[in-house]
Amino acid sequence: MSVATQRQGSSTDQASYNSCANPIQHRPRNYVSYPGSSYILPSDEDEQARLALQHRVLVRALGDRLVVAPITLTPGNHVLDCGTGSGIWLLDLASKVSPDVQLQGIDIEPRLFPTTRPENMQLQVGTATKLPEEWSNKFSLINQRLLIAALKSIEWPVVLKEIHRCLAEGGWVQLLEAKRWGAEGPHSVKHRQLLELLFSSRQLLIDCSVQLPKMLGEAAFQNVHVEEYRLPAGKWAGQEGIDVRDNFINVFRGMKTPILNAGGLGYVNSEEEYDQWMDDMAQEWDETEGTTVDICVCYAQKVPVEA
Ligand SMILES: C[S@@+](CC[C@H](N)C(=O)[O-])C[C@H]1O[C@@H](n2cnc3c(N)ncnc32)[C@H](O)[C@@H]1O
Repeated sequence: MSVATQRQGSSTDQASYNSCANPIQHRPRNYVSYPGSSYILPSDEDEQARLALQHRVLVRALGDRLVVAPITLTPGNHVLDCGTGSGIWLLDLASKVSPDVQLQGIDIEPRLFPTTRPENMQLQVGTATKLPEEWSNKFSLINQRLLIAALKSIEWPVVLKEIHRCLAEGGWVQLLEAKRWGAEGPHSVKHRQLLELLFSSRQLLIDCSVQLPKMLGEAAFQNVHVEEYRLPAGKWAGQEGIDVRDNFINVFRGMKTPILNAGGLGYVNSEEEYDQWMDDMAQEWDETEGTTVDICVCYAQKVPVEA
């Protein structure tokens, strides 16, 4: 029996992970256990720290902006953060807007929710695929950041329709996703191949960033805009590059359990081998000037349907 199956307490989707005949023994982290979720990243203290670093990296990349969509939040507005994680985007926003702007977060996993939060910030457990009925036409802005490793291909259109339903007329959705990452060296190229296999085995949409503009149109959004940003990754780019490297290599380290529980998917045979691979990939980024992680921000508006 694998270490993963022996472990007590929460475990994500262990049934599907353990359906593999030959899971590879390793020390697993905590994962979410929301029914039907394909989410492949952990939910623990290390992930909380990573999300804090990631937030700093992303906000810096966007020129110190939390909101890219063309909206000025005013008292009485409601804002939703879908898949809020540790709520760090909302907490940051709370420090920059009027306390009379109402801030709401939702996530399938409450473990990372902050223990203290401002009075105008509420958090609840739930899925982006089925937002509460009473949220129809409520929000001026809905933010959703990095659900690439969470939403299945068939869920993306559902989530965008739900977001559209919950936006007030004239309101904006803002979606940030990773587009491309890593060097052209052997460690990075092989890892991208592994991720394509992992994502497709769990019906996740690895190229969601490319498909978002079209999907937004199909979900009745208008005024669709796309902005792309290249984040330098690796020591060659100084502290900024080290932060980007650490964040994204740690994303990949976090995918170790789903990969090993799936028997390594033909790419890896032991925990040690995977750990070494991540070290080698980090070094490859350090030594390959020009390595980047590319992200894209799509924002779009719900406009009144003409009679
Ligand atoms: C990579 S984390 C990003 C967290 C946050 N958006 C941020 O940028 O800091 C993805 C989050 O999405 C959540 N998640 C996964 N599937 C979800 C779903 N169907 N509905 C809502 N949240 C989901 C996970 O629990 C996790 O907290």
